[in-house]
Amino acid sequence: MADTGFAPSWLLFDRSTRAIIYGYQAQAVQGMLDFDYVCRRDRPSVACIVNPTRGGTHLAFWGSRPLPVPMYQSLAEAVARHPEASVLVNFASARSAYGVTAEALAHPCFRVVAVIAEGVPERRSRELIAMARERGTTLIGPATVGGIKAGAFKIGNAGGTLENIVESRLCRPGHVAYVSRSGGLSNELNNIIARNTDGVYEGIALGGDRHAGSTYIDHILRYERDPEVAMIVLLGEIGGTDEYEVADALRAGRITKPLVAWCIGTSAGLFSAGVQFGHAGARADAQRETARAKNEALRAAGAVVPASFEDFDRSIAETYCRLVAAGKFAPAADVQPPPIPMDFGAAVRAGVVRRAPAFVSSIADDRGEELAYAGLPISEVIERGLGVGGVIGLLWFKRELPAWACRFIELVLQVAADHGPAVSGAHNTIVAARAGKDIVSSVASGLLTVGPRFGGAIEGAASVFRRAVKDGQPAGELVAAMRAKGEPIPGIGHLAKSVTNPDRRVELLKSFSAQHFPATPHLEYALAVERLTTAKRDNLILNVDGCIGALFLDLLQSSGLFCAAEIDEVADGGMLNGLFLLSRTIGLIGHFMDQRRLRAPLYRHPWDDIAYLAPDRHEP
Ligand code: ACO
Ligand code: LMR
Repeated sequence: MADTGFAPSWLLFDRSTRAIIYGYQAQAVQGMLDFDYVCRRDRPSVACIVNPTRGGTHLAFWGSRPLPVPMYQSLAEAVARHPEASVLVNFASARSAYGVTAEALAHPCFRVVAVIAEGVPERRSRELIAMARERGTTLIGPATVGGIKAGAFKIGNAGGTLENIVESRLCRPGHVAYVSRSGGLSNELNNIIARNTDGVYEGIALGGDRHAGSTYIDHILRYERDPEVAMIVLLGEIGGTDEYEVADALRAGRITKPLVAWCIGTSAGLFSAGVQFGHAGARADAQRETARAKNEALRAAGAVVPASFEDFDRSIAETYCRLVAAGKFAPAADVQPPPIPMDFGAAVRAGVVRRAPAFVSSIADDRGEELAYAGLPISEVIERGLGVGGVIGLLWFKRELPAWACRFIELVLQVAADHGPAVSGAHNTIVAARAGKDIVSSVASGLLTVGPRFGGAIEGAASVFRRAVKDGQPAGELVAAMRAKGEPIPGIGHLAKSVTNPDRRVELLKSFSAQHFPATPHLEYALAVERLTTAKRDNLILNVDGCIGALFLDLLQSSGLFCAAEIDEVADGGMLNGLFLLSRTIGLIGHFMDQRRLRAPLYRHPWDDIAYLAPDRHEP
């Protein structure tokens, strides 16, 4: 066993032991911290985590307070930053467990290395065992849950849930130390010992492989030397001969403390051929390796061995009571551990708390096996060919729109995708791209120009035309009222297009609606307005925004899927400019790519494009 010079060689862990956890095992880390907390340790036992894929910090809890746990990408860095850590809890997979353990054994700081992985090749295990013995490091595992020192330190998931740990009185040390192969049965031992004595002092699970890093005798001899241990419990099993080392030590007087022992697997004798039990090593290939033979040898050597496992607890209780009666030690008093707050998720599942959600979402749901858009599984969206228009119907309006409506939406996306480099949005994107900005910044800079005078009149037009149609307001009255207010009618007017130079996009939208829409009352109203405004000025035409706004109202109304209040909500809700934003993003990305491909020089506006004015001077 290693001896650092600071602690006696039999002592592997105490209340100041710190560990490095190899592998991002958030639950095991929290389990160790919760154990520390209920034991009222001064400092958390987890020094840090090694996560080869990500450094930074893992946020855990210390009681109810958040506790940042440092995370490093290499063991070397973790050791350099936490030289006080004396235990490595190695959660590396069977594939990498050997490499990580070999690396750890080269660091003199580790007194104990626990290897959790199952399936480490036997040849590799034997190499690690030889390395560990040579360096004086205690190797626990592979294929183990680790072990627990009551009131002081626990390896990974040892001891099971916090309820188990508290119920098994592991928050403070008792006087019984045990060693077993199995992790699951060590939980049972915690329970048996807690019920029949003053509780566990320390328990180690060696792991179920044929070759274990440390053996029964290694730990039993430590317990023999530790003055805090009053009696020892050994739970052996079928397979291997390690229990004979214990029998030999008993006979040689190297073990003087009472030892209660049982080897499980006695039922194997009922089967004709050799039986392989759960562990890789749990198989008797010779008479000597059977549980019965080993129980007899231990009994003959002086161990307390019951007649069957049924009586194991009674043997432990009787041995313990004899020691107490002889005044060998004072039984440990129970302590009240501090309460650990329940995790919020667990409390919700248990139905003991509820909390209003931070926000509500009702369009897509990714909680089930398959993502669903407005309740429709994504595979159905694709199989039924709903297209981009159908997806917009589901995600924006939570309805499965009719095919003609989906096609109209796609037509809008196509015709409004770009209008050349001279319009506000394209201009800004081009300037940003030429100034070296990235795609997100360049496209966003173009989108930020969308507003009442550029591309952002769809919702204004929908709102104005909707109210006028609902109120039965004659077109002439609307034009006069807007003029009286001094406001332009949204959706009317274009800088470049006019009656004599009509906008082909508007023509395409109108002709589609004539062919496919059941009715177009809002478009008809908008055209009546256009007739009046173009009579005044040639360019006051129904523009592309206005046409989309009016026709979208007709789409909602004619689909029969929306009530009047829902159509009002869409018309006044400031949502419909989304159609222009989505469509124009296509063009703006194109402008960004175009500038990048052309490797355009950085942007600087020519001087002669700018008029300079002298500042106004106001004479007093
Ligand atoms: N309704 C009524 N009168 C109008 C409108 C209108 N929408 N637009 C302009 N006018 C009148 C103005 O009152 C002004 O009249 P006046 O000469 O008697 O003073 C005259 O037309 C010129 O006004 P400008 O603001 O100079 O018009 P311009 O042609 O420069 O602007 C613009 C075009 C910005 C599209 C404008 O018509 C407008 O603001 N329209 C409403 C908003 C709109 O639909 N924007 C989307 C455009 S399409 C697109 O970007 C994809
Ligand atoms: C556009 O689609 O960008 C335009 O209609 C705006 C414009 O000024 O041409």
